[in-house]
Amino acid sequence: MKKRILSGMRPTGKLHIGHLKGALENWVKLQDEYDCFYMIADWHALTTEYESSKEIHNYSIEIVKFWIATGIDEKKSVIFRQSDVHQHAELHLVFSMFTPLGWLFRCPTYKEQLREIKERDLKTYGFLGYPVLQAADILIYKAERVPVGEDQVPHIELTREIARRFNYLYGKVFPEPKEILTPSARIPGIDGRKMSKSLNNCIYLDEEKNEIYKKVNNMITDPQRIRKTDKGHPDICTVFSYYKVFSPEILDKVRNECENAKIGCVECKKRLANILERVISPIREKKNKIKDEEVIEILKEGKKKASKIAEETLNEVKKAIFQ
Ligand code: TRP
Ligand code: SF4
Repeated sequence: MKKRILSGMRPTGKLHIGHLKGALENWVKLQDEYDCFYMIADWHALTTEYESSKEIHNYSIEIVKFWIATGIDEKKSVIFRQSDVHQHAELHLVFSMFTPLGWLFRCPTYKEQLREIKERDLKTYGFLGYPVLQAADILIYKAERVPVGEDQVPHIELTREIARRFNYLYGKVFPEPKEILTPSARIPGIDGRKMSKSLNNCIYLDEEKNEIYKKVNNMITDPQRIRKTDKGHPDICTVFSYYKVFSPEILDKVRNECENAKIGCVECKKRLANILERVISPIREKKNKIKDEEVIEILKEGKKKASKIAEETLNEVKKAIFQ
């Protein structure tokens, strides 16, 4: 029997090359070795986007298209939307009964988001409970492995603590899931800061060819390199950090050319844009061919498969608690 995996993404924007390297390529590989559940976390999106909820639906459909276009296969994996499987919300309620507030207030992601997001009121009951809902997502399928980035590790730790506490109180129902860390390939935005929709510095996975060239051309390079004859410092150049991720096989060559002023930044950027276009174009083309109706159908199938298991677990949970 294959071990089960669950992971999810919040539908709050289009997917960019950071999602490809930081999650999707790994998700695609895991499909052969594990029984995979990939979830559109629309309730989680609502915890922060409750004022602009109408976009969540459209991004949910769009993200499934990106998943399929990058190689997530609905025949191998269960692709579904969190709000389509009501048992998540019910298990979240159960867990909320015995999850101490201290665990949630202490969570580093909670503190960080409160500090960072100033334009919305996040001092809500729902947002504080974000990791409790995430624990329900994972445990409703008794998933044993959760592929995530480094930033999500505290949530997986909390999931284990919630599982342990449930098992202690009512008898053993849940496994204690472990994270599968995605080797974090940090791809900065085109301005060198963290890639993020709100900073408007993303390269999306369906970016048009001319936009790729424009964006790469606008990237920050070594500021001390003014003339082509100036020697460059690749380690402080955003363009170079992209080469590290997308073209490691020519990295030494690029470093040498840059440090010895054998290549100009314009040319170096053009070569990178070519590399990115080769990565993005098949995804863009495949994604643009997928119709909304196909996604609706995939989500309908996913809902069926996910609900069946979720219902079994929830019955077991109720039995453990009340009988
Ligand atoms: N919190 C995750 C993120 O922001 C998304 C998510 C929701 C998730 N539920 C999950 C990830 C369950 C893994 C497992 O990236
Ligand atoms: Fe960056 Fe390339 Fe210019 Fe060097 S040559 S500074 S790596 S863009």
